[in-house]
Amino acid sequence: MLGTAVVALLQAQVAALPEHRIADIMKPLASPAEAEKNIALFSFAITGVIFVVVAGLIFFTIWKFRRKHDEDEFREPAQVYGSNQIEVAWTIIPVLIVFILIGVTARVIAGVENASPPKDVTKITIIGHQWWWEVKYPDYDIVTANEIHVPSLPDGKAATYLKLESADVIHSFWLPQLSGKTDLIPNRDNFMWINPKEPGVYFGNCAEYCGTQHANMLLRVIAQTPEDFKKWASEQQQNAASAAAMTPPRAEFESLSCVNCHAIKGTVAVGKFGPDLTHLMSRQTLGAGVIDNTPANLKIWVNNPQDPKPGCFMPSLKLTDSELAQVVDYLGSLK
Ligand code: CUA
Repeated sequence: MLGTAVVALLQAQVAALPEHRIADIMKPLASPAEAEKNIALFSFAITGVIFVVVAGLIFFTIWKFRRKHDEDEFREPAQVYGSNQIEVAWTIIPVLIVFILIGVTARVIAGVENASPPKDVTKITIIGHQWWWEVKYPDYDIVTANEIHVPSLPDGKAATYLKLESADVIHSFWLPQLSGKTDLIPNRDNFMWINPKEPGVYFGNCAEYCGTQHANMLLRVIAQTPEDFKKWASEQQQNAASAAAMTPPRAEFESLSCVNCHAIKGTVAVGKFGPDLTHLMSRQTLGAGVIDNTPANLKIWVNNPQDPKPGCFMPSLKLTDSELAQVVDYLGSLK
């Protein structure tokens, strides 16, 4: 255990990071997002040229063949019965353009999805759930939720490889400034990678309709220097704060059915259905971004999750006031 002072310091570091809230694909801060921005500009340039040519020809024709005053009203215009050259040209040129766009896009998508991870990169497995993100670091033995801590270097050398899975329906993982969307599909593993070039908190969300609370399936990537990331990781590897001592609030929590759905490392709580709570209070939000993680909000959430997040799968356990106070007290200690 690194102690609460260190935990507080780590949280202050995260709070001080710049926030990249704007969902702006034109301001990429990672290699995959840069490549995708370039494709977007390339496609826009090609289609822009087509637009100018077609619109120009239309206006030219309207102007050139407008009705003139001295013209004989009843004279038939020249009748043209097709031209092999023109028809061949307007078939072949669009086909070539489409194949160029397909080729360039396929190359970038393959570069993001099929890249094999170098040896010492950070590997993360992300599992989409209705409506939250499970985040596992297999090499570190860490399980967390909704907030993905990754290392960041200005040259983009600190890459994180993501394996994307789903526990229920199709979700889509999207961090506009770091990379494009990749679906999380049941019974299939998808892959992508990110390398944030600036430390900061990057906002993203689920980009595939997945049920009632799809809009509140938010995620954030917290990119830190490799040293800060290592500190965070070693703190997360610890057992829960009070795992060694059985306190009345902890006993209360463990007597309730919370433990069937949630895991807390070092305790009898080993449920897998809901988010791991071992270091709950190290996270910024509750309910996958629906409310800030404050003691007051934690109480609102535990009392009835259906208030802040209607339709979510965590029920109100209809706790008595004293049970609620004990549970919130215990959860609040999980730094
Ligand atoms: Cu998950 Cu939409």
